[in-house]
Amino acid sequence: MKDATPRAIRLEDYAPPQWRVDTVHLDFDLDPERTRVRSRMELTRLVDGSAPLVLNGQDLGLEGLQVDGRDWPEDRRSLEPERLVLHDLPATCVVELETVLEPRANTALEGLYVSGGNFCTQCEAEGFRRITWFPDRPDVLTVYTVRLEADRATCPVLLSNGNPVETGDLPGGRHYAVWHDPFPKPSYLFALVAGDLVCQQDRFTTRSGREVDLRIYVQRHNLDRCDHAMVSLKKAMRWDEETFGREYDLDIYMIVAVDDFNMGAMENKGLNVFNSKYVLARPETATDDDFVAIEGVIAHEYFHNWSGNRVTCRDWFQLSLKEGLTVFRDQEFTADQSLRAVKRIHDVQHLRSLQFPEDAGPMAHPVRPRSYIEINNFYTMTVYEKGAEVVRMIQTLVGREGFRRGLDLYFQRHDGQAVTTEDFVRAMEDATGRDLGPFRLWYEQAGTPRLEVDGHHDAATATYRLTVRQSCPPTPDQPEKRPMHIPLRMALLDPSGRPLPLRLHGDGDGEAPPVERVLDVTEAEQTFVFQGVEAPPVPSLLRGFSAPVKLQFPYTHEDLAFLMAHDGDDFNRWEAGQQLAVKVLLAQVRALQAGEEPRLDPALEAAFARVLEDEALDAALVAEALTLPGEGYLAEQMEVVDVDAIHRARRFTRQALGRALAGRWRARHDALADSRGGDAVAMGRRRLRDLCLAYLCAPGEKEALALARSRYEQAQDMTGTMGALRALMDHPGPERDEALADFEARWRQDPLVLDKWFALQAASGAPGTRERVEALMAHPGFSLRNPNRVRALLGTFAMGNPVHFHAADGEGYRLVTEAILELDALNPQVAARLATSLVRWRRFDAARQERMRAALERIVARPGGSPDVYEVASRALA
Ligand code: TRP
Ligand code: ZN
Repeated sequence: MKDATPRAIRLEDYAPPQWRVDTVHLDFDLDPERTRVRSRMELTRLVDGSAPLVLNGQDLGLEGLQVDGRDWPEDRRSLEPERLVLHDLPATCVVELETVLEPRANTALEGLYVSGGNFCTQCEAEGFRRITWFPDRPDVLTVYTVRLEADRATCPVLLSNGNPVETGDLPGGRHYAVWHDPFPKPSYLFALVAGDLVCQQDRFTTRSGREVDLRIYVQRHNLDRCDHAMVSLKKAMRWDEETFGREYDLDIYMIVAVDDFNMGAMENKGLNVFNSKYVLARPETATDDDFVAIEGVIAHEYFHNWSGNRVTCRDWFQLSLKEGLTVFRDQEFTADQSLRAVKRIHDVQHLRSLQFPEDAGPMAHPVRPRSYIEINNFYTMTVYEKGAEVVRMIQTLVGREGFRRGLDLYFQRHDGQAVTTEDFVRAMEDATGRDLGPFRLWYEQAGTPRLEVDGHHDAATATYRLTVRQSCPPTPDQPEKRPMHIPLRMALLDPSGRPLPLRLHGDGDGEAPPVERVLDVTEAEQTFVFQGVEAPPVPSLLRGFSAPVKLQFPYTHEDLAFLMAHDGDDFNRWEAGQQLAVKVLLAQVRALQAGEEPRLDPALEAAFARVLEDEALDAALVAEALTLPGEGYLAEQMEVVDVDAIHRARRFTRQALGRALAGRWRARHDALADSRGGDAVAMGRRRLRDLCLAYLCAPGEKEALALARSRYEQAQDMTGTMGALRALMDHPGPERDEALADFEARWRQDPLVLDKWFALQAASGAPGTRERVEALMAHPGFSLRNPNRVRALLGTFAMGNPVHFHAADGEGYRLVTEAILELDALNPQVAARLATSLVRWRRFDAARQERMRAALERIVARPGGSPDVYEVASRALA
């Protein structure tokens, strides 16, 4: 068991390891009820004196302990609940020990567990200590040799990290395999998989001629869904060679798909374990978004082989060192496979709708946190997504080529080491000569900075003054903030929409000034004076979202419409439309709160009509431009969140636009009806097609619903099926109910597709959704033991359906709280994620605050709860 009172781990307490593990041999005798693990470690003491050896373990017994072949006396060891301390060891020695595990009973899905009848492991962050006693910290790297033994009939496949060494038969229907990984690695990258699996195989020749055997292991019935993952893997391998000069380093690369998995996927050296959601796809079962997500996650885990495995983290406070960098790398990869601007829009939406709220709430923490109770709670949007933005800003500051040189230096300097974010920044500085001193604050200071910008044109002197003020709201433990180094990419557009040459005071008058600049905002307040500006310009600010900040500029509706039409930066064109929509929707929210009828703003209608008719613009960008800001993003703009008014305003606007532009939606929809192919262009066309259908259906008229119903019937693939279903979901009635029933009957046996069915219903805005979610928890297909199912039903309800989750009667909170408590006993990690839905209780009205706080108090007060859930709930109440 974990300690009774969870204790915080602090960065400032970091101390380097006192022992080195030179090699480890692990021997697994696999059995679902009783697995025996023998470990043999060769150890060297790194410090003078008699430093004891401290090994971590969780829920572990100790069956045997020998040092240099002899039993180690009881009085020279202390067995604590989570530590085994060995005293008076010789400076070099061999420690052998034995543990016994019950993989079948492991519902936490950390350590060794059984999924779909097969054995697998999850060791990041601290799962290895549930397998054997070991210095389970990322700065202890060692060379692993692993022997697996199991029943041949039920476990024909035996896998671990590295390269295969030996296999053979044993008496009693058993067999074994030995694997050796030549690259020293921390324990969190250890993995084993054993079971009745089949594989799709391919090969890849690296740039320098190494032949790599590629294998994707799945259950037999999924073998026809591996093509896309394999193609994605090969693309990622080639891309990393071409873009960053990174080559693969073993003879084999394996991916295993498992149905029960706490997160997306795991980068274990040479043996990635994946949530099957991020491997399995064919057009009949997976949507375009699924295909894109799979490509991205396959690439992400592959890229970790360098950014994470070859160079790893010194301690878990440095998590963003590998995750921020690897997310940045996978974002760039996806951008190169599709439309860069669309990818950027998606990433920024993701950041704003999930990371910004995190950064403004009680769980706010720096990209490099300073303390935690349970590290699993710090696999956050901040560490991943804001961390990627920090890496992106470094690239903006040092330039693309400089960034490449910096990354080369980082990998060369630190190959085989466990390092810190500081080492990363220093490599960037050393390779480019750029001073990133003040920039480092991005790693240390939590909260989303706010930029208030104003512009003033002076006709007499033909100058334009841009004044930038920055501030950052207080966050837990950080009441006062210092100014940050913010790269502000910008342009000035003249009245005809052309970008002006940007001559700043102090520029030499040699070459022609650029039409786009990155301003270094470093002070609390700064003014930039542009020369030679004859007429008042419209500024295009924060182009490409050059920093993760909230920007304010007093744009008029006309300015925004102008930018939507003329901005040469595709991201900012989209952003102008979003800002216009936010203004309009918030005005409607205020109207509703004042008891007035909302009205459709003519500027928004005109802008939508124009975009909808723009045949020159990529369909994917049109679709993004015509998507209204989400309820969560709108909520962020309000002092006190009014979930009902936001929901009603957004629904009203969708319906009004659906009605006002019905002919145009229909025409565009019909023109796109037959959009086939797997490339980004075809996907963009399908996205726009389904968006048109959704607007057509928004008013809920019979004819449109019938169209959606027939689209459901005729759909060629899962993208079309889901597009039709989604358009129907907010409209209770026979069309919706028949389609849902048909879908369930058809896909009952297919867990990943059935997840979509659960999620659709949990996301519905229609009345009675909470009751339906509650009924679905009793559905034979529902289980708290499967994280994907929990996320599909409960995660979607709690995080993706504000109007029902936050229902005034408190029933949404009750439902989710009860689920958290029940889930906590099975899987604390997933329970803690669900609990984050309650943490921002202070954002709501008094009545909701009261109910949410009571829910959190109930969670904290419960005896025997996990430290995971305790940390989330207690931080929320602090
Ligand atoms: N390192 C994984 C990734 O980002 C994340 C991960 C997978 C993870 N499974 C986990 C983190 C379990 C904590 C616990 O690719
Ligand atoms: Zn990762």
